[in-house]
Amino acid sequence: SAAEKGGWPSFMDKEIHEDPEAVANTLLGRFDDQGDIVLDEVHIGLDVFRQIDKIIVVACGTASYAGMVAKYAIEHWVRIPVEVELAHEFRYRDPILTPRTLVVAISQSGETMDTLMALRHAREQGSRVLAICNTQGASIPRESDAVLYTHAGPEIAVASTKAFVAQIVAAYLLGLYLAQVKGTMYRDEIRHILEQLKDMPQKIQWVLDNQAGNVEQAAKRMINAHSFLFLGRHVGYPVALEGALKLKEIAYTFTEGFAAGELKHGPIALVDAGEPVVVIVPSARGRNILHNKVISGIEEVKARGAFTIAVAELGDPDVEQYADVVFWRPVCPTLLSPLVDVVPLQLFAMDMAMLKGYDVDKPRNLAKSVTVE
Ligand code: AGP
Repeated sequence: SAAEKGGWPSFMDKEIHEDPEAVANTLLGRFDDQGDIVLDEVHIGLDVFRQIDKIIVVACGTASYAGMVAKYAIEHWVRIPVEVELAHEFRYRDPILTPRTLVVAISQSGETMDTLMALRHAREQGSRVLAICNTQGASIPRESDAVLYTHAGPEIAVASTKAFVAQIVAAYLLGLYLAQVKGTMYRDEIRHILEQLKDMPQKIQWVLDNQAGNVEQAAKRMINAHSFLFLGRHVGYPVALEGALKLKEIAYTFTEGFAAGELKHGPIALVDAGEPVVVIVPSARGRNILHNKVISGIEEVKARGAFTIAVAELGDPDVEQYADVVFWRPVCPTLLSPLVDVVPLQLFAMDMAMLKGYDVDKPRNLAKSVTVE
């Protein structure tokens, strides 16, 4: 009903605007005054955690993209390999699981059958399973050894938005916790990242307050586009995949997301005059070599007539030269940037669907949680 939407035209609109809260609430109570991570609700012993030598994230759809972001952060912080696999692929290929493998099942609903089957398999093989879940008492957390709840609040719209940013935050917390118990990072470093994480809600809010109009204008310009390419690199890659998924789910536009470095290995053949290409641009700060590489990707598609939309950091010295439209985000650490970069893409998908007159909360053919295999 209208009251449940709290004055917003759709649940999706409301839920995107709850992104900052979802991040803040998921951080809440997860560290003490000293800045140490406290995950009291995770009932896996410290001795077990110290022995973990591999993580496998299993999830589907948007949750799997949160897992991909987790891989970049956790491997960097904890120095153990993190694999990310779609739950339905993982389950039926005889994956290598040992008692020292931590399987992380990420699910908003906690009822996704593919993910549930994957975690059952992992436990049968003797691995520990930790669920990252947004729904108290759902099947996935109930059947896991431990659970780290995301506190995004109920998500009603079929397209996942606030749950995604909350999943990423929970995965960061898990990574920092592992770094703390395994001693792979100095306490000061962990504290520093926590402080940066605490700043993220206001950075997301900045995007919502300052870029929504810009995004809507771009959606109006692109309303007749038949397809979109999304590209990103490093943590921008899963953001590109998520941006592509959002747009296909609710605006029924054909989209493909891919790693920016793959462009010349195939996808550039698709680029023709007027083809919209959305690019997640890494920060230019700290002489980030990936920045230039992604900018030259924009240059290449632009040279073939693409209409380019960039998501870029405020103060980026190069992007405006090549991008037809820029969605700006505040300065933030690279590993945390997906939390802000995804926000304009969520808005963009919603605006496109609204402008086309579709039901953004209940897209055709889709269910909120897929409870069959
Ligand atoms: C997200 O917009 C999708 N509707 C879908 O990919 C979803 O993320 C996926 O089905 C996983 O759902 P879950 O998080 O409830 O397990």
